[in-house]
Amino acid sequence: KKLAVFVSGGGSNFRSIHEASLEGLVHGEIVVVVTNKSSCGGAEYARSKNIPVLLFPKTKDEPHGLSASELVATLRHFEIDFILLAGYLKLIPLELIQAYSKCILNIHPSLLPAFGGKGYYGMKVHKAVVNSGARFSGATIHLVDEHFDTGRILAQRVVPVLSNDSAEDLAARVLKEEHRLYAEVVAALCDERIIWRSDGVPLIQSKE
Ligand code: GRF
Repeated sequence: KKLAVFVSGGGSNFRSIHEASLEGLVHGEIVVVVTNKSSCGGAEYARSKNIPVLLFPKTKDEPHGLSASELVATLRHFEIDFILLAGYLKLIPLELIQAYSKCILNIHPSLLPAFGGKGYYGMKVHKAVVNSGARFSGATIHLVDEHFDTGRILAQRVVPVLSNDSAEDLAARVLKEEHRLYAEVVAALCDERIIWRSDGVPLIQSKE
């Protein structure tokens, strides 16, 4: 399977999926990386592994960025099967969601629907979780629709919130689980072990 990964920041989720692909756990190849910030760590890592980097979207400070239709055409050219958002912070245009229906995944560092949606990203999520007194947080992988963090949930992993946790402590504990969860889910995706329940909820079949 051919994978496209979208990043905006450090790209640690991208790196862990790439490593899982190189180790043969994920039967898929990351053939292109898309970013809204060409200088971010994820883009640097892609260049260091000779993976092509596309700039999206086109904005005033990134005038060389692709338009939505150019991006769709380019992903088609790369024969992409699945799109994985990994720390990507911009909305996905409807044109891309329609072109890749049920083939775009995102990871969010909380147990959605809690602490999700516009404004909840990066450390803001963990600060809100710690301040709420929640005893558990975690990671969620969901299908992407035209809103932030609202698509069908595909997988979750629970992480305890300890009484003396800072937001940074929690972020580090959740990020470790994100890496494990995303590699497992992408492995299932590439092995076509995702089945659809009658009400549209995607389920992962375990490896026999
Ligand atoms: C992670 O918590 C991820 O869930 C969120 O952005 C953070 C950084 O991700 N979307 P990465 O290191 O850039 O993969």
